[in-house]
Amino acid sequence: MDSNKPIGIFDSGVGGLTVVAEVFRQLPDENVVYFGDVGRTPYGNRSKDIILQFTRQDVAFLRDQDVKFIVAACNTAAAVAMETVAAEHDIDMIGVIEPGAKAAVETTKTGRVGIIGTQGTIASDAYPKAIQKMDDKIKVFSLACPLFVPLAEEGYQDRKASYMIAEDYLQSLRDVHIDTLVLGCTHYPLLKKVIQTVIGENVTLIDSATATAREVRQYLAKSGLFRDNPTGVNSHKYYVSDVPDKFATVALRFLGRRIDNVIRVDITKY
Ligand code: DGL
Repeated sequence: MDSNKPIGIFDSGVGGLTVVAEVFRQLPDENVVYFGDVGRTPYGNRSKDIILQFTRQDVAFLRDQDVKFIVAACNTAAAVAMETVAAEHDIDMIGVIEPGAKAAVETTKTGRVGIIGTQGTIASDAYPKAIQKMDDKIKVFSLACPLFVPLAEEGYQDRKASYMIAEDYLQSLRDVHIDTLVLGCTHYPLLKKVIQTVIGENVTLIDSATATAREVRQYLAKSGLFRDNPTGVNSHKYYVSDVPDKFATVALRFLGRRIDNVIRVDITKY
């Protein structure tokens, strides 16, 4: 495998840019090809079959871009479909579930961990399974928080409505006295302030984007796949399945920088 190839990262939409932002921070020499399935987002409340079909197409598209390996930045795709799709390819893939689960296991002191995510991610039980495989004494409490996705996309990072919804959702997790909470959805890191305030300062939040980028770094080190970047120049590419204009606006919020070179592709061809 040529280490100078880019890393492929995909998500159901813009949310995976939280993982891209962490990859940029932790691995500044790497090039990234991002695919955001904005035209078919959200995946979180769809059936397993559809999530599998979409994930297959996302991965097929990235393979066509000749990437060196693939990151499933979408928690829903990673939880529901990645294992199946990874078995169909001869390229390595990393999802966000294992890194997030590992970080939670390393963090919890009381052995009581909360997971929040989309309906698809929570229904799959992927996080509890991954955590209990590492430590079967840990008690895991899962909760779907579907309204957090549109709140993050609308920029409701510090709005009254977000606090009210978070109060409503997170009460059940406060009642069971967790000490660690996994943000098991690409969008939730944007609502960190709201979630931390509502769940309480004594609960440690696990941002799966940070944990995943760390795992990517370890993978590249282990596989000898760090990109040579003597000139310090990068070339990232962004592809979407619907109108790039909106993507660029929301992307600014997620990535904290402007991206102009957004290309629209017909993902149904893959
Ligand atoms: N990217 C999805 C996830 O991390 C959230 C948005 C969606 O439902 O598609 O689960």
